[in-house]
Amino acid sequence: MKIITDKQELQNITKNTTKTVGFVPTMGALHEGHISLIKKAREENELIIVSIFVNPTQFLAGEDFAKYPKRDEADKKICKLAGVDILFMPNITMMYGKDEVTIKAPDIRGFVLDGFKRPGHFDGVLQIVLKLFNLARPTNAYFGRKDAQQVILIKQMVNNLFLPINIVDCPLIRGDNGLALSSRNAYLSQEEKEEALKISQSLQDATKLIVTGNLNITEIKKMMMKTLDGIDVEYIEIVSRELLQMQQIELKNTIILVAVKIGSTRLIDNIWI
Ligand code: PAF
Repeated sequence: MKIITDKQELQNITKNTTKTVGFVPTMGALHEGHISLIKKAREENELIIVSIFVNPTQFLAGEDFAKYPKRDEADKKICKLAGVDILFMPNITMMYGKDEVTIKAPDIRGFVLDGFKRPGHFDGVLQIVLKLFNLARPTNAYFGRKDAQQVILIKQMVNNLFLPINIVDCPLIRGDNGLALSSRNAYLSQEEKEEALKISQSLQDATKLIVTGNLNITEIKKMMMKTLDGIDVEYIEIVSRELLQMQQIELKNTIILVAVKIGSTRLIDNIWI
């Protein structure tokens, strides 16, 4: 595995390759969720590029940018074992200059859910993902459904800007206890981890209700709120896979999304129905 920190060096390789390129952008602190993306990329492409870059423009003032978990050495080992060919680890000055052209997330899908709660977050995500795409020049790029709104907006960007890249959305990965894997789980104490199990429990409860034929959004949200009792819930939203409001649950076209705060840690989870 080659570790590259220089954008020009990466571009020199990707400009000249005739291989299919599978790309997995990350912010590091890799876990099984990331590994599942890398494995899928490995199966479907000839050259695998992973990036690790904690992107400052997607964090709002007061968020966890400064303390975002960093595990460079462990991450390098994980990537090597998973069959990554190139690990791109740039620093901030490599990726950003002063007074840059920026990208604005679209109004409808960009300013609901996390876009509403974290204004500007998706502008920063789209900006860095576009930059990384231009360096990695992927055939296929892999994103987890854990960040449902992110992958939907990236697909929209690729469509709107005519980028010749196939976006592959991959299943959300949970631990044995049901907790959705996230680098931010590292912030949780044991007690908070137990509390966080209510999140996946609430999604399971919702699924069970839907399976019995109840497609009523208000009733499902109410029941989820009960399961999440005692937790600081930012939102529970039930929307279409286009992130649009719906009258009732539509099978194969619904996402149920939850955002909560456990202590000072913000966690999101979702299920695609
Ligand atoms: O999902 C993430 O880890 C980040 O938002 C991404 C896509 C790497 C952009 O910084």
